[in-house]
Amino acid sequence: MTDAHSDAADAPAKRLFIKTYGCQMNVYDSERMAEAMGAEGYVLTDRQDDADMVLLNTCHIREKASEKLYSDLGRLKPLKAERPDLKIGVAGCVAQAEGDEIIRRMPVVDLVVGPQAYHRLPAMVRGEAPAVDTEFPAEDKFDHLPPARSGHAATRRAPTAFLTVQEGCDKFCAFCVVPYTRGAEVSRPAARILTEARDLAARGVREITLLGQNVNAWHGAEGWGLGRLIRALAEIDGIERLRYTTSHPNDMADDLIDAHRDEPKLMPYLHLPVQSGSDRVLKAMNRRHTAEDYLRLIDRIRAARPDIVLTSDFIAGFPGETDADHAATLRLIERVGYGMAYSFKYSARPGTPAADRAGVDAGVADTRLQELQELLTRQQKAVQQSMVGRELTVLFEKPGRLPGQMVGKSEYLHAVHVTAPDAKPGELLRVLITASAPNSLSGALIEAA
Ligand code: 5AD
Ligand code: SF4
Repeated sequence: MTDAHSDAADAPAKRLFIKTYGCQMNVYDSERMAEAMGAEGYVLTDRQDDADMVLLNTCHIREKASEKLYSDLGRLKPLKAERPDLKIGVAGCVAQAEGDEIIRRMPVVDLVVGPQAYHRLPAMVRGEAPAVDTEFPAEDKFDHLPPARSGHAATRRAPTAFLTVQEGCDKFCAFCVVPYTRGAEVSRPAARILTEARDLAARGVREITLLGQNVNAWHGAEGWGLGRLIRALAEIDGIERLRYTTSHPNDMADDLIDAHRDEPKLMPYLHLPVQSGSDRVLKAMNRRHTAEDYLRLIDRIRAARPDIVLTSDFIAGFPGETDADHAATLRLIERVGYGMAYSFKYSARPGTPAADRAGVDAGVADTRLQELQELLTRQQKAVQQSMVGRELTVLFEKPGRLPGQMVGKSEYLHAVHVTAPDAKPGELLRVLITASAPNSLSGALIEAA
């Protein structure tokens, strides 16, 4: 979490606890809300019990994610009973989807703010704006949130950062709530993104991950696409690594694929969800491409960057999915060979086109999910094992658990543990990979010649 801090040196700081659920965009939004509240005299605390305000930044993507909010709110009831002046806010996609229904169901909640209304949060907390705001205003919320401040020692930060470049989605996959909770696709202008990236570089950031629900649909003036934006970002001194997530296969433009070949700062890693390997299911999901289209695209990406590590999302048990469809998904996974992938059991989301379709038997969906996960775990292991013996570059992030140990990430986004007592966060050093554990690698520093 970032460093919300108070400019009001005279008033005692109020403490803000933020819990972030769900995707990386929520992590980014939480940071920006922390900064906005910092200007109001709030500092972040990691202890909910002594906070003056608790903000839950929620996720609506699957039923389980949504339900977590209500169990957490239930646990906050006694705290609020003890300290009635404690402010409780709900932000994020559940806030957007359920609005004031949240306060009706859970009266401990003081304010509800949707993802497009975060710039109004300070006024809401001051009591100068309505307590429920789930509008999609015409203005860009990022124009009104305070910019990331540079120059302060207090705002030095981790060597990696997220930067939202695009929000919302016009794809309307039949299972997905994102087009409803995050709204239509909107790209931020290149100039703003470049300014924010320069500020991040000035604050010690070395690696930026560009975020968007459909990040590769990003477009700027004069025909700029994401590939062009990446080339411009790569020119910023201090920025050594760029990544982007999450992409839709149909928006992988030639220029973006070329950037994977030509731009050394663009890391050889791509999250490109396919969801299913069956054309029938892909059609029912409204994905607008076939399994073969996806495989051809993967071939082109690998031709541009042969060592690229690919990752994906899969849904098991989408309505109408047969054993043959599931087998087609397993076949596609075998053909691609993923470095990592998330797989989920289908969860019917209210308001989405697939929600009224007859579901697959829950036991069958569980078995399919397990099969997907077994295969994907095997592939993940194999890709990690293939790193052993290789010399990689690690961007060090923080001390590890053992004395003298540092943890960082390789080009391929694997966590790497290295004994490097003198290495500092933000340093990029060559490392010989010596071993692979279930979720990380370990290695030894290669001494500079
Ligand atoms: N059920 C299961 N998984 C879902 N996802 C999105 N909506 C649903 C749903 N209703 C998954 C998709 C998407 C990822 C972010 O979450 O795989 O890529
Ligand atoms: Fe949801 Fe992604 Fe499909 Fe958009 S492209 S509707 S965010 S799954």
